[in-house]
Amino acid sequence: MSKEDTSLRFRQFEADDAPVVYSFCLQLIFKQSCWQLRKKTMLNRGWMISAVTASVLLAIGLSWPVTLITSLLCTYLLIWISHTAYSYYLRHNRYQDLCSTAAFVARWCSGGQDRLFVATLEDGTVIASSGIVHQDIDTCELVRVATEESYQRKGVGRALMKYVLRQSTSFGYKTVVLKTSDVQTEAQRLYETSGFSLSKIYTVGRGIMTVYYYKLNLTDH
Ligand SMILES: CC(C)(COP(=O)(O)OP(=O)(O)OC[C@H]1O[C@@H](n2cnc3c(N)ncnc32)[C@H](O)[C@@H]1OP(=O)(O)O)[C@@H](O)C(=O)NCCC(=O)NCCS
Repeated sequence: MSKEDTSLRFRQFEADDAPVVYSFCLQLIFKQSCWQLRKKTMLNRGWMISAVTASVLLAIGLSWPVTLITSLLCTYLLIWISHTAYSYYLRHNRYQDLCSTAAFVARWCSGGQDRLFVATLEDGTVIASSGIVHQDIDTCELVRVATEESYQRKGVGRALMKYVLRQSTSFGYKTVVLKTSDVQTEAQRLYETSGFSLSKIYTVGRGIMTVYYYKLNLTDH
């Protein structure tokens, strides 16, 4: 597929699309939680945990090889526990539509003002998603922006974004807002080169995550 490929199709999300679109979105949440924990907290603290564990094991007289392996295992276990807990928190508190495919379908096929769109190949294979959530009469929020990994960097995300922005305009919205994080550098590039401007930067969870808020005025677009 080339960037000029015109074989892409765009349409509203349907219940049958749920397994594939759900998996894109879930992968993103896991990528986010893994990265944030590893990069920002546990990776830095991992050395500390290893050092403390190693000191304790050495103090109680264990040999170096056993100490090394045990302290690395302890570190890995702590990272895994934190990652699992954080992923659970994200799925159950922040992204309730990602609890299950059924919840995902219920959320996006409710016929309300929130809408999810997909990009497909000519044969109907769904390869990207992007949705809008109603905020107020003038504003919607862009959410669930994702392209299936093997189709990334081929112009699909940008083409779907253009379609979704046209849809948002046709629904009468004047402003599109979105939030992303420091993990999603490729998404930030996509938003910035699509006309969005950074409106706020916010750090949450004692530095675990930096959230970037972007805004686009559809009337200028
Ligand atoms: C962000 C994402 C949706 C982009 O989709 P895509 O189909 O690969 O996007 P496109 O090929 O249309 O690229 C559009 C622009 O995004 C930016 N971009 C995309 N991938 C990039 C990468 N790996 N590195 C740097 N910039 C990138 C570029 O500016 C690109 O324009 P260019 O190719 O003219 O330079 C995709 O990378 C993705 O699914 N990422 C994981 C999910 C995610 O982070 N979603 C955002 C949630 S807020």
